[in-house]
Amino acid sequence: MNNNSRGGFSSKLGFIAAAAGSAVGLGNIWQFPYVAGQNGGAAFLLIYILCIFLIGLPIMVGEIAVGRNTLANPYGAYKKLGGKSWALVGLFGIICGVMILSFYNVVSGWALGYFIQIVKGDIFQETDFSAYFKNYTADFLDNLIYSIIFMLLTAFIVYKGIQKGIEGASKVLMPTLFFILIVLIIYGLTLPNAKEGVEFYLLPDFSLINPATIYSALGQAFFSLSLGMGALITYGSYIGKNDNIISSATMVTITDSLVAFLAGLMIFPLVFSQGQSPSEGPGLVFVALLGVFKSMPVLVGKFVGGSFFLLLCFAALTSTISLLEVPVAYLIDEKKWSRIKAVSVMAILIFLIGLPSMLSYGAVDFLSNFTFYEGSSKTFMDVVQDIFFVISLPLGGFLLSIFIAYKWKMNNLSAEISYGFKSYQGKGKRI
Ligand code: PFF
Repeated sequence: MNNNSRGGFSSKLGFIAAAAGSAVGLGNIWQFPYVAGQNGGAAFLLIYILCIFLIGLPIMVGEIAVGRNTLANPYGAYKKLGGKSWALVGLFGIICGVMILSFYNVVSGWALGYFIQIVKGDIFQETDFSAYFKNYTADFLDNLIYSIIFMLLTAFIVYKGIQKGIEGASKVLMPTLFFILIVLIIYGLTLPNAKEGVEFYLLPDFSLINPATIYSALGQAFFSLSLGMGALITYGSYIGKNDNIISSATMVTITDSLVAFLAGLMIFPLVFSQGQSPSEGPGLVFVALLGVFKSMPVLVGKFVGGSFFLLLCFAALTSTISLLEVPVAYLIDEKKWSRIKAVSVMAILIFLIGLPSMLSYGAVDFLSNFTFYEGSSKTFMDVVQDIFFVISLPLGGFLLSIFIAYKWKMNNLSAEISYGFKSYQGKGKRI
């Protein structure tokens, strides 16, 4: 139990649910399958798993320990332990969180919009779901409405605070998500050509591995575990001194990689059974699954499809709340703002920053073909993703490691970990 006046999680399980809720999100269910699909399937999966456990897990332990030791937001935490210049690293992490949430909220809005379209049922009249996805994401009004709704939900939960809002929501939403994934996997495996999908996903072709594959697996691992920008420094500041950081971080890491793994196992058999390409890109989940839901009897399709997109929204929501909590904690701690003021101002600001991303999927041509690199034209949202997550999150993780090893020092890390894990004391003192 964390009793400091900033609020805290009620128990170790509450923290694990919230941190796993932050980790599991669009990154696992929407992004992981399409990035894996574009990067060779099984070979990518293998590198991703290595990045998660060899690099991600230790960094997660480090972030949580820094947060619990300082009881502060990323800026405050770096400042307390490292002084003013290190505080800039924390500040940059907070800015990354703001920018990530700006586009994440837009994609969450797509998921919410699809949920509504499925419940209404008209979407099942469509024949070309790839074209539908393009038209849908180019429709400004729908996107505007659903992303406003999503931001309001996020803001409301963050306003409710740590225990009632964040922890309560995560404890219910996470197990439900697992359940629906399993149901869809079992269904997908019974379809014709499912085997090809499983092979694509599980039999690695090592000739597909190159530096770009490795780097995208690394970036994906950081994003998926919510690392490199201080979200877990912030959550770490709300846990109790006697909680075992290593076992909690391990549980979160296992949960997160399991959900990403299962999402791939769900999607590739479905993609192959529909005769679609696994390298469809960001539309993969939105396109492939709809064909499957349509092939079911109407009510079943509505029910399974509706549940899937609803759960995608839930998974996204437990991540958006952790993204919003980071700048909110900063404003509360450092600027002494009230929670309500911090939440309202940040939610509006981030929503506005997200508008160009929202318009970059067809609505405004200039933003949709914003620039060109790596051999393809990039949307504004692609550029935001490349700067603030693909490049910045691994960099943030790297800086945190340097910070812990050379500034804070390993014996302090070890002492912090050992509060909840007595036999750990004395380990990791080498530097
Ligand atoms: N981990 C989330 C996902 O996989 O969807 C995304 C995310 C949440 C990244 C929170 C960073 C963060 F701080």
